[in-house]
Amino acid sequence: MKANEKIITALDLRGFNEILNLIDSLENAVWFKLGAVNFTAYGTKLIDEIKKRNKKLFLDLKYHDIPNTVKESVYAASELGVDMLTIHAFGGIEMMQAACDAVKEFEDKHSKQGPLILAVTVLTSFNNDNLKDYMFINQTVEETVLKLAENIKKAGIKGLVASAKETKMLRDNFGDYFTIVTPGIRPAWASKGDQKRVTTPKDAIELGSSYMVIGRPIYKAENPKEAFEKIRKEIEDVNTR
Ligand code: C5P
Repeated sequence: MKANEKIITALDLRGFNEILNLIDSLENAVWFKLGAVNFTAYGTKLIDEIKKRNKKLFLDLKYHDIPNTVKESVYAASELGVDMLTIHAFGGIEMMQAACDAVKEFEDKHSKQGPLILAVTVLTSFNNDNLKDYMFINQTVEETVLKLAENIKKAGIKGLVASAKETKMLRDNFGDYFTIVTPGIRPAWASKGDQKRVTTPKDAIELGSSYMVIGRPIYKAENPKEAFEKIRKEIEDVNTR
């Protein structure tokens, strides 16, 4: 995979035209991530514009519901032409299998590849204390991530979202089985913003990330194209999974 294909630019900025201008300015970018905020604001109209530009789309809506609802949502996202999407691993094995069934159904119907499903493990806003207080889990974040990853594999899902700090542990336990997508990336020259535990692009790839999600260091940069290029160069010579 080429370096520019490993960078997923998060479209978390405001304004329909501003989003399209950003996409148009990043000629070398292949992947864009649309999350709940801008999907809520602009819906499928924005998806259509992204697909019109031949870009790959990661729809990050983190589905977590009863299996049938997740199945139908994943099927609908597949029909939209999404290339990657997220579900919550806490939804359980049956729910994750239902998501897989939806992609299979889509692939059988259209004879083309459906989206890669990524399961979200423990959100980075959780720590050991609130995992216990709000989720009633008496294990550490790391132990919980590892157990969820076992469930993700059992469900037949091959992708997950994890912080770079967890990536090495996942690679040690599961080898190359998972496509790992990592947020919380900050080049040395960028501001951290609200991200507390950050990793540089080069370190993330060396730790085993397959793709990186990067938002503010690109879209808030004075020159987003230059920022994207700097990141691309930083990871150019690092071998990936
Ligand atoms: O601007 P920044 O690079 O921090 O954006 C990171 C993106 O990754 C945001 O869209 C954020 O919602 C997402 N994300 C994250 N941490 C997670 C899961 C997703 O930062 N654990």
